[in-house]
Amino acid sequence: MLSWLRRETTADLPRDPKEDEPVAGQSDAIRGVSQNKPLLTVRGVERAFDVGGSKLRVLKGIDLELYPNQLIMLRGRSGSGKTTLMNLMGGLDTPTAGEIVFQDRPFHKWGDDKRTEVRRKDIGFIFQAYALMPLLSAYENVELSLRMAKVPRGEWKSRVTSCLELVGLGKRMHHRPFELSGGEQQRVAIAKAIAHRPSLLLADEPTAELDSQMAAQVMQVFKEIVATQNVTICMTTHDPTILEVADHVYEMVDGVFVS
Ligand SMILES: Nc1ncnc2c1ncn2[C@@H]1O[C@H](COP(=O)(O)OP(=O)(O)OP(=O)(O)O)[C@@H](O)[C@H]1O
Ligand SMILES: [Mg+2]
Repeated sequence: MLSWLRRETTADLPRDPKEDEPVAGQSDAIRGVSQNKPLLTVRGVERAFDVGGSKLRVLKGIDLELYPNQLIMLRGRSGSGKTTLMNLMGGLDTPTAGEIVFQDRPFHKWGDDKRTEVRRKDIGFIFQAYALMPLLSAYENVELSLRMAKVPRGEWKSRVTSCLELVGLGKRMHHRPFELSGGEQQRVAIAKAIAHRPSLLLADEPTAELDSQMAAQVMQVFKEIVATQNVTICMTTHDPTILEVADHVYEMVDGVFVS
């Protein structure tokens, strides 16, 4: 039904040819996409900030691997370093030491421009506070991300409509954010984050501002996306009931993972 959302090769940057060009109707295993090969590898990552003339060590040696079609969660107390790590994984920031490799692309060695290019095409972000444009409708907000990803204009209408239907907002497409509930706004943000068919979706406390029923709706959408859209989701949360649906939970304490 939603076969259009399957990822196409849009990146003009180096990547593993085996992961490209899915064949319609074939499973990942049949078409040769290795489920055993990580989508993203974080190796020995450290991040320190200069604060008032001294070094604040926030991440102190993080190792993590994300595989295709997983729902992975990070938990940890406020200030433990979760957002700092997500920013590195999404190429928004670079580590002080260690390696971040996304689909064979070494983010730790690359400059801003190259990382931005990859991010626009292959990574989606969802934030706690929705990050929608207030004067644009749900439809226009999703359309904007396709424009940013340089998706051909002729594909916009079908992609926007399908994404908003996927998140259950087919009847709210022309509402502006202030005409939507918190859960609905977050679902628009999800539609916006997946419209360009990323292979990785990073969500930083996406349910923190939602009541438990709306949070459950968002998690339902996440589960559906992972099951059908060839996407891996990595999210942070404090909510123990949400952690139950994860394929794996990483617990962060003071800049390191504990088991
Ligand atoms: N740009 C920065 N400059 C200096 N210190 C920073 C910077 N970014 C983050 N920090 C510090 O790094 C630590 C970890 O911050 P981070 O935002 O990663 O925590 P978090 O686990 O996401 O917390 P929360 O659950 O509250 O969102 C904090 O002590 C914060 O003050
Ligand atoms: Mg945070």
